[in-house]
Amino acid sequence: MTAAALPPSPGVTVRAPAKVNLHLGVGAPRPDGLHPLATVYQAVGLYDDVTVCDAPEWRVELVEPDPSVPLDDGNIALRAGRALVEHHGLDLAAEIRIDKGIPVAGGMAGGSADAAATLVALDRLWGLDTSDTDLLRIAAELGSDVPFALIGGTAMGTGRGELVEPLADATDLWWVVVLSDDGLSTPAAYRHFDELHPDAPSEPPHPDALVAALAAGDVAAVADRLENDLWAAARDLRPDLVEVEADLRSMDPLAVLLSGSGPTLLMLFGDVDAARAALADVTALGHRASIAPGPVAGAHVVHYG
Ligand code: C5P
Repeated sequence: MTAAALPPSPGVTVRAPAKVNLHLGVGAPRPDGLHPLATVYQAVGLYDDVTVCDAPEWRVELVEPDPSVPLDDGNIALRAGRALVEHHGLDLAAEIRIDKGIPVAGGMAGGSADAAATLVALDRLWGLDTSDTDLLRIAAELGSDVPFALIGGTAMGTGRGELVEPLADATDLWWVVVLSDDGLSTPAAYRHFDELHPDAPSEPPHPDALVAALAAGDVAAVADRLENDLWAAARDLRPDLVEVEADLRSMDPLAVLLSGSGPTLLMLFGDVDAARAALADVTALGHRASIAPGPVAGAHVVHYG
């Protein structure tokens, strides 16, 4: 029997994208310890697919098991499911199956994508009709990047990153995403940022020039204005990244950027052929890498069983 002739599996599958931060402006820690951000998110074409179906008890599993992804309440997708049920005052449970295409612990918000996908999938599975405002609020309580994974595209993020406003983006960007074998803890990167920048402002400035370049579709101007305030901290914590960065710059991308809190590094290209050539070069040097276009859509249903 061919795959096309197989009966569809029951449940709902939602696909959610990875994100990069075209700008990550970080301020001094707030009283709650979190950092005020002025960030520009862009959703890029690496995805996690999350399939949910009714179950007597909550359960999460990975299509390809990964010891670094927890399967208990430490899993943010499971917390998302419980939060949605609690919001509606229901006594329901589901099995959540995650097919990961987003690097784990790479600074690309894979866990946030899983949480956003789970919210959308369970909302559809159970016909809950949760309002966008409520979904965004539940998402914000789960993590700083979860609301953006719901909306996708390109967006300004403020607060601790959870307050998102869509931005006009006329660019077609091609990213070569260069993975790292070792992780880099997000809290550790922020803590080291505090040590390096004791005078960080309480409100990081807005990246007005980048926002204008995106609206104008000016890829060269966008490339010139990419910025990540956590980069110096990441270089200190992971000195090996400096060498990788030098390798990437030698491939003549429009820009090199640290993804979020790292350790994933990004090369930017304006067309897919240049990105493909760089992918071949970077792979030949022994790095794990893939190509992702941006911007792409946020969490969306791809299968309804
Ligand atoms: O919100 P999220 O769960 O993604 O944050 C993970 C960790 O990253 C936080 O516990 C905190 O240490 C750090 N963080 C921060 N300021 C932010 C976002 C994250 O300090 N705006």
